[in-house]
Amino acid sequence: MAKRRQLYEGKAKVIFEGPEPGTVVQYFKDDATAFNNKKKGTITGKGVLNNRISEYLMLKLADIGIPTHFVRRLNMREQLVREVEIIPIEVVVRNIIAGSLAKRFDMPEGTPLPRSIVEYYYKADELDDPMVSEEHITAFGWATPPDLDEIMSMSLRINDFLTGLFLGIGIRLIDFKLEFGRVWEEEQMRIILADEISPDNCRLWDMNTNEKMDKDRFRRDLGGVEEAYQEVARRLGILPESGPGDMPGSDTMQ
Ligand code: C5P
Repeated sequence: MAKRRQLYEGKAKVIFEGPEPGTVVQYFKDDATAFNNKKKGTITGKGVLNNRISEYLMLKLADIGIPTHFVRRLNMREQLVREVEIIPIEVVVRNIIAGSLAKRFDMPEGTPLPRSIVEYYYKADELDDPMVSEEHITAFGWATPPDLDEIMSMSLRINDFLTGLFLGIGIRLIDFKLEFGRVWEEEQMRIILADEISPDNCRLWDMNTNEKMDKDRFRRDLGGVEEAYQEVARRLGILPESGPGDMPGSDTMQ
């Protein structure tokens, strides 16, 4: 990795200063955490796969008119993205009951919801990312009501599109998390999709077997974590040509 100024280190990514103003470099690590950092580990090759998967999905979303931060992939583990002011909200879209929703209401995982649910969580590790309502978000000034309308409508469009895309490769999109950021263009503020979309922040189940193909394999010690991420990339048709053998630690590979 070339020497550059590190701006931020998150649990799965590092953000470096970009080569031109208004850009930053997103470096994808193999580190995995769960339960707000209580469980830590490494998923070999995850960074390489998530870099590719997120690139692929962000480009597809841009094709249907969703504004995203993605500019271009730089190498195996890095992508150039637009610098945004992150809105401190995690937007979770759910199609099927799983995870914390199943737990909170003691409902069986796998039950389809009559309609998709959008939830908001305040991004604050020290508070365990508490769930918040639109009222909290607007009252505390994290986003305005029109910002939230835009975030909600983009999230539902993303959900519709990704649900179809994954169905086409035999995967059910159970739920996922999105983050949005603000950019300014000629004094105009715009909200764009930021962060990443990958098996780290989506629940993906095989359509036929219901086998989990996402970070729940790590969270729940199900084994076969690397293989699951590889299988998602393979079905998307983006497993690097040289194959998974090239994944581990391929920091410098272009
Ligand atoms: O844990 P929970 O069921 O609320 O997660 C819903 C979805 O949001 C899952 O796909 C999970 O991977 C994602 N998520 C995330 N980051 C968080 C919390 C949830 O990516 N901090």
